[in-house]
Amino acid sequence: MAIRNIRQEGDEILKKVSREVDVVDDKIKELIKDMLETMHQQNGVGLAAVQVGILKRIIVIDLYDDNPPIVLINPVIIEQKGEQTVEEGCLSFPNKYAQVVRPKEIQVEGLNENGKKVKIKGKDLLAQALAHEIDHLNGHVFVEIMIPGTLEYVTPEEETKK
Ligand code: NI
Repeated sequence: MAIRNIRQEGDEILKKVSREVDVVDDKIKELIKDMLETMHQQNGVGLAAVQVGILKRIIVIDLYDDNPPIVLINPVIIEQKGEQTVEEGCLSFPNKYAQVVRPKEIQVEGLNENGKKVKIKGKDLLAQALAHEIDHLNGHVFVEIMIPGTLEYVTPEEETKK
Protein backbone atom coordinates (compact mmCIF):
# COMPACT_ATOMS: atom_id res chain seq x y z
CA MET A 1 0.00 0.00 0.00
CA ALA A 2 1.13 3.48 -0.70
CA ILE A 3 -0.09 7.04 -0.56
CA ARG A 4 -0.35 8.41 -4.08
CA ASN A 5 0.11 11.96 -5.23
CA ILE A 6 -3.19 13.77 -5.80
CA ARG A 7 -3.39 15.75 -9.03
CA GLN A 8 -4.40 19.33 -8.40
CA GLU A 9 -6.48 21.99 -10.12
CA GLY A 10 -4.90 23.00 -13.42
CA ASP A 11 -3.54 19.52 -14.15
CA GLU A 12 -4.78 18.66 -17.66
CA ILE A 13 -5.33 15.01 -16.75
CA LEU A 14 -8.42 16.03 -14.73
CA LYS A 15 -10.13 16.95 -18.04
CA LYS A 16 -9.54 13.56 -19.64
CA VAL A 17 -12.05 10.74 -20.00
CA SER A 18 -11.04 7.57 -18.13
CA ARG A 19 -11.10 4.16 -19.81
CA GLU A 20 -13.01 1.08 -18.72
CA VAL A 21 -11.23 -1.58 -16.71
CA ASP A 22 -11.16 -4.88 -18.64
CA VAL A 23 -9.84 -7.23 -15.96
CA VAL A 24 -9.79 -6.73 -12.18
CA ASP A 25 -6.24 -8.02 -11.70
CA ASP A 26 -3.71 -7.60 -8.90
CA LYS A 27 -2.52 -4.29 -10.32
CA ILE A 28 -6.06 -2.87 -10.18
CA LYS A 29 -6.53 -4.23 -6.64
CA GLU A 30 -3.28 -2.56 -5.57
CA LEU A 31 -4.43 0.71 -7.14
CA ILE A 32 -7.75 0.49 -5.25
CA LYS A 33 -5.95 -0.09 -1.93
CA ASP A 34 -3.74 2.91 -2.62
CA MET A 35 -6.75 5.05 -3.54
CA LEU A 36 -8.49 4.14 -0.27
CA GLU A 37 -5.35 4.86 1.73
CA THR A 38 -4.80 8.17 -0.05
CA MET A 39 -8.44 9.24 0.42
CA HIS A 40 -8.37 8.35 4.11
CA GLN A 41 -5.08 10.12 4.72
CA GLN A 42 -6.65 13.28 3.27
CA ASN A 43 -9.97 12.78 5.11
CA GLY A 44 -11.69 12.78 1.73
CA VAL A 45 -15.18 11.43 1.10
CA GLY A 46 -14.35 10.20 -2.40
CA LEU A 47 -11.59 9.78 -4.93
CA ALA A 48 -11.44 8.83 -8.60
CA ALA A 49 -8.43 7.07 -10.16
CA VAL A 50 -7.80 10.01 -12.50
CA GLN A 51 -7.04 12.09 -9.40
CA VAL A 52 -3.99 9.91 -8.74
CA GLY A 53 -3.04 10.10 -12.42
CA ILE A 54 -4.56 6.83 -13.62
CA LEU A 55 -7.16 7.12 -16.41
CA LYS A 56 -9.22 4.11 -15.39
CA ARG A 57 -12.89 4.08 -14.45
CA ILE A 58 -12.52 3.41 -10.71
CA ILE A 59 -13.97 5.37 -7.79
CA VAL A 60 -13.83 4.99 -4.02
CA ILE A 61 -16.18 6.62 -1.50
CA ASP A 62 -16.22 6.64 2.29
CA LEU A 63 -18.87 8.61 4.17
CA TYR A 64 -17.28 7.70 7.53
CA ASP A 65 -20.59 6.26 8.71
CA ASP A 66 -21.13 2.67 9.85
CA ASN A 67 -20.76 1.32 6.33
CA PRO A 68 -17.49 0.14 4.81
CA PRO A 69 -15.97 2.20 1.98
CA ILE A 70 -17.55 1.77 -1.46
CA VAL A 71 -15.38 0.67 -4.38
CA LEU A 72 -16.83 0.85 -7.89
CA ILE A 73 -15.17 -0.17 -11.13
CA ASN A 74 -16.76 0.95 -14.43
CA PRO A 75 -19.70 2.60 -12.61
CA VAL A 76 -22.73 3.50 -14.73
CA ILE A 77 -25.64 5.65 -13.54
CA ILE A 78 -28.81 3.72 -14.30
CA GLU A 79 -31.28 6.02 -12.58
CA GLN A 80 -31.37 9.40 -10.91
CA LYS A 81 -34.18 11.28 -9.22
CA GLY A 82 -34.76 14.69 -7.75
CA GLU A 83 -32.34 17.48 -6.96
CA GLN A 84 -30.40 18.77 -3.99
CA THR A 85 -28.40 21.96 -3.66
CA VAL A 86 -25.33 21.11 -1.64
CA GLU A 87 -21.91 22.41 -0.66
CA GLU A 88 -19.12 20.52 -2.34
CA GLY A 89 -15.37 20.26 -2.32
CA CYS A 90 -12.78 18.02 -3.96
CA LEU A 91 -9.33 16.71 -2.99
CA SER A 92 -8.01 18.13 -6.27
CA PHE A 93 -9.23 21.61 -5.27
CA PRO A 94 -7.88 22.04 -1.76
CA ASN A 95 -9.69 24.55 0.43
CA LYS A 96 -12.25 25.40 -2.26
CA TYR A 97 -15.95 24.86 -1.72
CA ALA A 98 -19.01 25.82 -3.73
CA GLN A 99 -22.71 25.09 -4.01
CA VAL A 100 -23.77 22.70 -6.74
CA VAL A 101 -27.00 20.96 -7.74
CA ARG A 102 -26.81 17.17 -7.59
CA PRO A 103 -29.39 14.41 -7.92
CA LYS A 104 -31.16 13.61 -4.66
CA GLU A 105 -31.16 9.88 -5.39
CA ILE A 106 -29.04 7.83 -7.71
CA GLN A 107 -28.64 4.20 -8.72
CA VAL A 108 -25.32 2.98 -10.02
CA GLU A 109 -24.15 -0.33 -11.40
CA GLY A 110 -20.57 -1.48 -11.59
CA LEU A 111 -18.06 -4.00 -10.32
CA ASN A 112 -16.66 -4.21 -6.83
CA GLU A 113 -12.98 -4.76 -5.98
CA ASN A 114 -13.44 -8.51 -6.54
CA GLY A 115 -14.87 -8.01 -10.03
CA LYS A 116 -18.41 -8.91 -8.89
CA LYS A 117 -21.34 -7.00 -10.35
CA VAL A 118 -22.94 -4.70 -7.78
CA LYS A 119 -25.76 -2.18 -7.72
CA ILE A 120 -25.65 0.74 -5.32
CA LYS A 121 -28.54 2.98 -4.39
CA GLY A 122 -27.59 6.26 -2.80
CA LYS A 123 -29.44 9.29 -1.58
CA ASP A 124 -28.38 12.64 -0.15
CA LEU A 125 -24.63 12.67 0.55
CA LEU A 126 -24.04 9.29 -1.12
CA ALA A 127 -25.92 10.39 -4.25
CA GLN A 128 -23.83 13.57 -4.29
CA ALA A 129 -20.56 11.65 -3.87
CA LEU A 130 -21.42 9.10 -6.58
CA ALA A 131 -22.35 11.87 -9.03
CA HIS A 132 -19.18 13.84 -8.20
CA GLU A 133 -16.83 10.87 -8.62
CA ILE A 134 -18.48 9.61 -11.82
CA ASP A 135 -18.13 13.15 -13.24
CA HIS A 136 -14.35 12.81 -12.68
CA LEU A 137 -14.32 9.69 -14.87
CA ASN A 138 -15.78 11.79 -17.68
CA GLY A 139 -13.25 14.60 -17.24
CA HIS A 140 -15.57 16.90 -15.30
CA VAL A 141 -14.96 18.70 -12.02
CA PHE A 142 -17.38 20.38 -9.63
CA VAL A 143 -16.31 23.97 -10.31
CA GLU A 144 -17.74 23.61 -13.84
CA ILE A 145 -21.24 23.29 -12.42
CA MET A 146 -21.00 25.50 -9.34
CA ILE A 147 -23.75 28.02 -8.72
CA PRO A 148 -22.22 31.39 -9.64
CA GLY A 149 -21.11 33.45 -6.65
CA THR A 150 -20.96 30.54 -4.21
CA LEU A 151 -17.22 29.76 -4.42
CA GLU A 152 -15.57 29.96 -1.03
CA TYR A 153 -11.91 29.68 -0.18
CA VAL A 154 -11.45 28.22 3.30
CA THR A 155 -7.90 28.50 4.63
CA PRO A 156 -6.46 25.38 6.30
CA GLU A 157 -6.52 27.14 9.71
CA GLU A 158 -10.23 27.81 9.43
CA GLU A 159 -10.80 24.28 8.25
CA THR A 160 -9.31 22.71 11.35
CA LYS A 161 -11.69 24.80 13.47
CA LYS A 162 -14.72 23.54 11.52
NI1 NI B 1 -13.35 15.37 -6.69
